[in-house]
Amino acid sequence: MAEKVAIFDTTLRDGEQSPGASLRTDQKLEIARQLARLEVDVVEAGFPCSSPGDFEAVQAIARQLEGPMVTALARAVRSDIDAVWDAVRDAGRPQIHIVLSVSDIHIERKLRSTRLKVLERGTEAVAYARTLCDEVEYSPEDAGRADPDYLYETLERVIDAGATVVNIPDTTGYTLPGEFGALIENVRGHVRNIDRAVISVHCHNDLGLASANSVAAVLSGARRVECTMNGIGERAGNASLEEVVMILRTRERSLGLTTGIRTPLLAETSALVARHTGIAVQLNKAVVGGNAFAHASGIHQDGVLKDRLTYEIMRPEDVGMGESRIVLSPRSGRHAFRFRLAELGYHLPDEAFARAWEAFLRLADSKKEILDRDLEAVVEGVTVKA
Ligand code: KIV
Ligand code: ZN
Repeated sequence: MAEKVAIFDTTLRDGEQSPGASLRTDQKLEIARQLARLEVDVVEAGFPCSSPGDFEAVQAIARQLEGPMVTALARAVRSDIDAVWDAVRDAGRPQIHIVLSVSDIHIERKLRSTRLKVLERGTEAVAYARTLCDEVEYSPEDAGRADPDYLYETLERVIDAGATVVNIPDTTGYTLPGEFGALIENVRGHVRNIDRAVISVHCHNDLGLASANSVAAVLSGARRVECTMNGIGERAGNASLEEVVMILRTRERSLGLTTGIRTPLLAETSALVARHTGIAVQLNKAVVGGNAFAHASGIHQDGVLKDRLTYEIMRPEDVGMGESRIVLSPRSGRHAFRFRLAELGYHLPDEAFARAWEAFLRLADSKKEILDRDLEAVVEGVTVKA
């Protein structure tokens, strides 16, 4: 039987960090409820110390959401940790999430500190958070570019201090799938007490590898993936929830892994997030893009009309995208043209069909999109002449 990978959705925290994406409390609540319907395992609701508005939003989500664990982000300082705890403590299953850098680039150039001081600060923060909450996640920021030995030491120390989840972030989207998978394997091999914590991963998409890196990580034993709907997030965004989930589902037989996500709700969740954040989903976006199940070339249309398995590896209804679409363009073939005419109720005899086809090609060469009313005009033209 396939093993379960937990889905940690950070649309409301990392996703909301996308430029221009900030959300009101009512919008955050609506998205959180939709994420619960989708059956994500964890909702990261925000960064409470960032503003009073975000504190209120996280608190409202923690108080009202049923189902998923609710978490929020804190830096490794007591005031942040207190703010997270005050915001999430009323959730059915609260978690405190602490972040502190682990790479030398961050420690020296951002924190202007030392490895030793950071190690102490991180472990103290976890120990303090555990006095408040049973579930504490620790994220060594920029783990993808850190010295692995220092990373292992950090993980060992924070687990001893009480971390129940250790998250390995590729904060800058720098690693390659093979490297990131090997890093997770090495974490499992080198961190003495790793069996006492869940390994989570958090990949950014700067090189377009966030979903691939997340999948490489779960193949190496990570059992929680942090991701966002539509892949929104800082800079080029995060691993996209719909991609990670559908990779695991579509290739379940090879990978032996699954999630608890109700995939037919993916499309409506994607649309809700796009509407509230104002970040449109690109047409060619995997899984939920407007063209993800559209076929425009004659060769593909002919195949799909005979059997959609020829060009579709997922069923649109399994991700809530309705039906596959045959889009008429100058690259379309006669089979698709005849099919669409029939859908509109036109069954032309051979000679009229041949004239309609010629008229269609002339029109399609001059227009980007062929609408139903264009087809009606084409049919009218040839039947009037006939
Ligand atoms: O990208 C990152 O490192 C983060 C952490 C808070 C997990 O967002
Ligand atoms: Zn991030």
